[in-house]
Amino acid sequence: MPEKDPLWFKDAVIYELHVRAFYDSNGDGIGDFNGLIQKLDYLQDLGVNCLWLLPFYQSPLKDDGYDISDYKKILPSYGNMSDFRRFVKAAHSRGMRVLIELVLNHTSDQHEWFKQARESKTSKRRDYYVWSERADRYQEARIIFLDTEKSNWAWDPAAQSHYWHRFFSHQPDLNFENPRVRKDMQEILEFWLKTGVDGFRLDAVPYLFERDGTSCENLPETHAFLKELRAAMDAKYPDRIFLAEANQWPADVRPYFGNGDECHMAFHFPLMPRIFMAIRKEDAAPVLDIVKKMPAIPDNCQWALFLRNHDELTLEMVTQEERDYMVREYAADAKAKLNLGIRRRLAPLMSGGRRAMELLNSLLFSMPGSPVIYYGDELGMGDNIYLGDRNGVRTPMQWSGDRNAGFSAADTAQLFLPVIEDPVYGYQSVNAEAQKRTPTSFFHWTRRLLAIRKQYQAFGRGTMEFLPCTNSKIIAYVRAYEKQVLLIVNNLSRYSQPAEFDLNAYKDYVPVELFGSVRFPTIGELPYFLTLGPHSFYWFRLEPPANG
Ligand code: GLC
Ligand code: CA
Repeated sequence: MPEKDPLWFKDAVIYELHVRAFYDSNGDGIGDFNGLIQKLDYLQDLGVNCLWLLPFYQSPLKDDGYDISDYKKILPSYGNMSDFRRFVKAAHSRGMRVLIELVLNHTSDQHEWFKQARESKTSKRRDYYVWSERADRYQEARIIFLDTEKSNWAWDPAAQSHYWHRFFSHQPDLNFENPRVRKDMQEILEFWLKTGVDGFRLDAVPYLFERDGTSCENLPETHAFLKELRAAMDAKYPDRIFLAEANQWPADVRPYFGNGDECHMAFHFPLMPRIFMAIRKEDAAPVLDIVKKMPAIPDNCQWALFLRNHDELTLEMVTQEERDYMVREYAADAKAKLNLGIRRRLAPLMSGGRRAMELLNSLLFSMPGSPVIYYGDELGMGDNIYLGDRNGVRTPMQWSGDRNAGFSAADTAQLFLPVIEDPVYGYQSVNAEAQKRTPTSFFHWTRRLLAIRKQYQAFGRGTMEFLPCTNSKIIAYVRAYEKQVLLIVNNLSRYSQPAEFDLNAYKDYVPVELFGSVRFPTIGELPYFLTLGPHSFYWFRLEPPANG
């Protein structure tokens, strides 16, 4: 069992995976819980200590499970409740926590509630959703799935009314004004808490309430409800957590932490695209600016840092100019674009550049927060931008060079999505088995990175201070926690760079490089000099003088 520290999430290394895409145990072409259980050893060996599962509930799968038709049932092709319980137990016995999805904002239009609601104006479920005679209410609310939806209202012929939806039109928004909706959702939360899961990703959490004359995002009512939900959870389960998916500007993300009484964690959406800008521009400014703009968060809270996930690389929260830059640099092929973002995995975004991938991981694993790895990115898996929607980054995990990438024994035509087969990222060359056998592989490199991080709580819990550097291609910071002092230096450039730092505060300390335990020259009076190879980085521990 994992230890019972309520702040465990500060030391978490999260692995995001889709049950459907991970491992198929019964040869029907679809990954399942029994398959996932078989692959827990792999995840333990990699060194992650927390798993985040995409939705696995009953669903017509028109939004890959984010369209839930029964919150308390598991999609039969993934397994059943007892498989799920066995999975949670097996994960816990390996010291891994489990986060699952809580989709509050909307249901599938196939949910019993919606079926009943649309039947008649007097249906007892009518008020579970947001209806309107006219389709022009809440005009200030933006449309999120721009490539598919023209309006946040859809006409329902059965109901003879328009209903509100922030995502696909088959995902009607629940009406959180209705106390019964709030109560039912709390009950669903309780249901899953009882299974022993360690926390919830709160999907699409800014959109719960609507109000005329507002953007219908981040409303005070939404925060009040989340605080209520948190208090109810804390009362019985003090070590379970909420992780907010709030894709918002800094000033609007910050309130999801409340005063330490709302969400324990939130994804750092503002930082993510700016990391990609910084490496492409070879300039630290985008990262420095956004981190400086970010208001501090409460002590009992933590950022979830990520580079890629199951969605497109979102560019909603950047300026138009920044968005143009990102699209120009990273989505030269129009097929790579989706809505306001880019549907690519990490390795293709870096054109397969190993050093660039390592550098991005150095940032991901050393900046303040808990890092999230997207399944397959530890192998440098590729994508397929010709599959519809976001499916191109949700293809089967590449286990080996065998048929179907070792993911499934089904007929190839039966797979839920085709495996990646191109000559660069295809499973014949990029797969877990081959990389485990190769000590220099990206898998082994990532594994080592995780092992090093685990030795220093300063990574997850320490303060951060940027170190000024006259070379703008260098981004350096000091992370400190209790007696640990870490110095991190990253070279954003594809060429070698010199760096010079004022380290007077650490005079007589010895920087010890963490990968090889190599002692560097003692810090003296003069500026400290380092040279960094293309896209390289240093993680140092600063050792105090023996008599200090
Ligand atoms: C979140 C999910 C995304 C889903 C959407 C609607 O943004 O990450 O995959 O489509 O919510 O539920
Ligand atoms: Ca299966």
